[in-house]
Amino acid sequence: MKKSNVYYASGMTIIAVVVCVFFYQQLWESTLTKEKTIKVGIVFYRQDDEFIASMQQAMEEEISEIIKEHPQAKLDFQLFDSKNSQSYQNDIVESLIKNQYDVLCINLVDRTAASVTIDRAKAANIPVIFFNREPVEADLTRWDHVYYVGSDPERAGIMQGNLILSFNQKHTKILDKNQDGKIQYCLIEGEALHQDAILRTKFALQTISDKLELENVSREIADWSYTTSFHKIKQLIKSQPTIELIISNNDAMALGARDALLESNIAERELPYIVGIDGLVRSLKLSSETVLFDTIINDSQTQAIKILSLACDEIFSKKKNTEDSRYFMIPYKTTEKNSEFL
Ligand code: GAL
Ligand code: CA
Repeated sequence: MKKSNVYYASGMTIIAVVVCVFFYQQLWESTLTKEKTIKVGIVFYRQDDEFIASMQQAMEEEISEIIKEHPQAKLDFQLFDSKNSQSYQNDIVESLIKNQYDVLCINLVDRTAASVTIDRAKAANIPVIFFNREPVEADLTRWDHVYYVGSDPERAGIMQGNLILSFNQKHTKILDKNQDGKIQYCLIEGEALHQDAILRTKFALQTISDKLELENVSREIADWSYTTSFHKIKQLIKSQPTIELIISNNDAMALGARDALLESNIAERELPYIVGIDGLVRSLKLSSETVLFDTIINDSQTQAIKILSLACDEIFSKKKNTEDSRYFMIPYKTTEKNSEFL
């Protein structure tokens, strides 16, 4: 055969293969979905958590896109609230498995409780995508069709620490109000055993204390909640008037602290520097309005897109997954005013 004919023949073969694969996929997708409705269950640890609420909103937007992109498919996405109870979540998951859901996306209440869910899902051949609350590694490797989508808490702590150091460089007089060379700080932590809380705290403090002398005036556990933080800080300020810095494991608690101080008649310009994590809408607005408030963005939108794209891969392409494609840590971002240094 002449060389040009060989090229022509192999070109045609490639085109034929691509066309076949495309039509096979279309056919597979339409037969798959004409036969039955594909059901995806999304189970939140609690829907009244402000960051989780932002994630839910991002998921709902992405679900509408997915439905538009797969007009052939009968897709049914259902959202559930575990109301912060692991046993209630187990009941929800059990009923989803009984009702032959095709994929489960689960935000565990208790991160050590994943094995029951994984074993039941595996027995029924239903893939599971955990998100936001990371199961222990031994559980995640129990089956190929188990994933985790979240963000790296160590990185958030380091970024938060760097933000505080940079603020100190730019505004030493504002931060060290009493000019004693030490920063009197209050720590507001999320749930006691949550690894995001533990690691964010550890790495934020480690990053700062290498370069700046810190003096702890109080450590409050506020379970990620605006209201709990509000009440605790309102109480604290009665006995502890010198707070120069508030390091909070998340934004809801940071905002609760700020509002408690304002309600305790501390003038805006006298507020301590307060830093949260998450990038809630109100925090982003405050961050652009005042130097005294900032946050690290926990990218709920990219996390939502990743969770749902893994669900779609499981539904539509039945990809075989390797060990290293189980964890998807979505990078944090800084607010616009800090983009130059992190
Ligand atoms: C964290 C988030 C917190 C809270 C927590 C719940 O990643 O920053 O605000 O939502 O997850 O697990
Ligand atoms: Ca001081």
